Amino acid sequence: MQNMDNVFIFDHPLIQHKVSLLRDKNTSSKEFRELVSEVAVLMGYEVTRDLPLMDIEVETPLAVAKTKVIAGKKLAVVPILRAGLGMADGFLKLVPMARVGHIGIYRDHETLEPIEYYCKLPSDIDERDVVLVDPMLATGGSASGAVNFLKKRNVKNIKFMCLIASQEGIRRLHNDHPDVAIYCAAVDEKLNEHGYIVPGLGDAGDRLFGTK
Ligand code: PRP
Ligand code: URA
Repeated sequence: MQNMDNVFIFDHPLIQHKVSLLRDKNTSSKEFRELVSEVAVLMGYEVTRDLPLMDIEVETPLAVAKTKVIAGKKLAVVPILRAGLGMADGFLKLVPMARVGHIGIYRDHETLEPIEYYCKLPSDIDERDVVLVDPMLATGGSASGAVNFLKKRNVKNIKFMCLIASQEGIRRLHNDHPDVAIYCAAVDEKLNEHGYIVPGLGDAGDRLFGTK
């Protein structure tokens, strides 16, 4: 994993391989969904690396073992609808006890401005560390808007996990919210005139759900 000032790029071979399959326009929706979930599991493994542990004792068939478990840290995963759902699914395989919040934001296709249409978060979200997930960080407007939602609800520790980021999106999210760590599998060079990441992987929501 490479680190540049609160931005973490996952260079693990399995992640890189799966992201290449995701980029392929011939990958079916079924495969795409499976791959997004698998990459979220692999990324989630690193994103949860700093979870605190506590000591416990467990009786094995032979003796008492002094061992460790996660120290009751409260976590929530919050997908940005729709495409974030695919990543939340993978993250929950790894951390099934996490609560789930949903933030609905779509980009206006003309202005590229984020439009908010839904927000339902666990009632104790202000006591939880939040992993916000969305496969694409393009202009950064959606992610930055979602972080605003969470901060208005007094969430203090937010990590953002995506598959492909643009340099512009990283700059925007980092400038708006320097406290939010950004985790991604690839950083692509540019956006096209429609705000799509190039080369990217296309429209993540449409590819996940077979719409369009
Ligand atoms: C996509 C993507 C992000 C957003 C990124 O969602 O899943 O939420 O665009 O773009 P931005 O960084 O420029 O804001 P989209 O608006 O296509 O909605 P969808 O998930 O419902 O398809
Ligand atoms: N949203 C997507 O789904 N893909 C992009 O490339 C940009 C925004």
